[in-house]
Amino acid sequence: MMQSRSRVSFNSLASPDRLGESTRAPGQCQKAQMENPLSFQPVAVRTQLDDALAAELEELRRRTLHRRLRSVSGRQAARMTVDGRECLMLAGSNYLDLAADARVVDAARDAAQAYGAAAGGSRLINGNLDLHEALERELAAFAGHEAALVFSTGYMANLGVLTALCGPGDVIVSDALNHASIVDACRLARAETRVFAHNDPADFARVAGGLAGFRRRVLVVDGVYSMDGDVARLAELVPIARAHDMVVVLDDAHGLGVLGAHGRGVASLTGVTVDVLIGNLGKSLGSFGAFVAGSLLLREYLVNTARSFIFTCALAPPALGAARAALAVARAEPERRKLLLERAEQLRAGLQSLGWNTLRSTTQIVPALVGENAATLRVSDQLLARGIYAQGIRHPSVPHGSARIRLTPTCAHSLDDVARVVAAFAEIVP
Ligand SMILES: Cc1ncc(COP(=O)(O)O)c(C=O)c1O
Repeated sequence: MMQSRSRVSFNSLASPDRLGESTRAPGQCQKAQMENPLSFQPVAVRTQLDDALAAELEELRRRTLHRRLRSVSGRQAARMTVDGRECLMLAGSNYLDLAADARVVDAARDAAQAYGAAAGGSRLINGNLDLHEALERELAAFAGHEAALVFSTGYMANLGVLTALCGPGDVIVSDALNHASIVDACRLARAETRVFAHNDPADFARVAGGLAGFRRRVLVVDGVYSMDGDVARLAELVPIARAHDMVVVLDDAHGLGVLGAHGRGVASLTGVTVDVLIGNLGKSLGSFGAFVAGSLLLREYLVNTARSFIFTCALAPPALGAARAALAVARAEPERRKLLLERAEQLRAGLQSLGWNTLRSTTQIVPALVGENAATLRVSDQLLARGIYAQGIRHPSVPHGSARIRLTPTCAHSLDDVARVVAAFAEIVP
């Protein structure tokens, strides 16, 4: 007998009677599926694993660390619909407003029409399109390095670089507030990891002074700290690293396209050269994916050894086409990054004038410190009720006790939009 949609529901999760009923269902379901594969309906069976997960989720709720997905619709823009309500969007990374730019969208469509929706496999097998290589040449020229290699995400770029460069016998020295993907990459590399106090050259010098005996020594930092919005003090950190014969790896996910001469990022802003630069295509460049820039030999080495590059499907043509177009627009229209930084400064000044602590932010990432998790959620709910979407950030994204609202304007936000956000902050009670 075919099961009707109304009879099979995940609502049966809670009730033991219904649970018994659902354990009988798979046989019926298989029969229905054989008759018509499209008729398949999931059958809810509450397992021991579910019981354990439910208890752990309850514990997250108790600690106000539980997360839920918000439903966002519409084109990427300064105003979007969040959970059914039109809002000012201050929670994204579409900093230069390129994700829905007609030239970028057209390029994504053209790439899909010319190449199809997928690369069809991994880069080392059949997925190395001329589009990847064209984008890599353009990214290398933009970043001021000999070569670049595209990865599927920034997370995978960090995993690939650190696990390829480091292993047992090596040491990675990492800033205390580095992005979670760097933290995970350090774990996966199985090298020794030493952490220095956030953006503190004196503490870095102390750690760097104690690394005798390691084969390779690597400093890894974010360019712009993604939850604090401050800039790595590379002008001080890099000379210390060089004095200790260290390789310098910079993850400039939020700085590239925005800061420095021609938007070349934090290395250019601070006047240093790094060995390995990791950039992102899914933030200011409005597409998806990431890249690593450095020497030709670094590129060849990563092609041969970076497992998150080798054992994964190549970036899809629409993302490549979009990234190429976005890079061209970002380079041709420097007023976008100027406007973005102006809006961020106006927002920061407005919040500060109300007494909000914006930490050390000097970039387009503007935190407003709250402290407690529950209070942070109350603030973000009150903002949402006023038509402003800004994400409340809690542990593990930030250290315990430093929960905050993280606001990220784009160059598409107007001065009036900023005034509206500041006016909302003036009304809310944490
Ligand atoms: C500093 C930093 N590195 C890496 C990533 C990961 O990038 P992706 O989203 O492309 O995986 C992020 C993403 O938020 C980031 O902020």
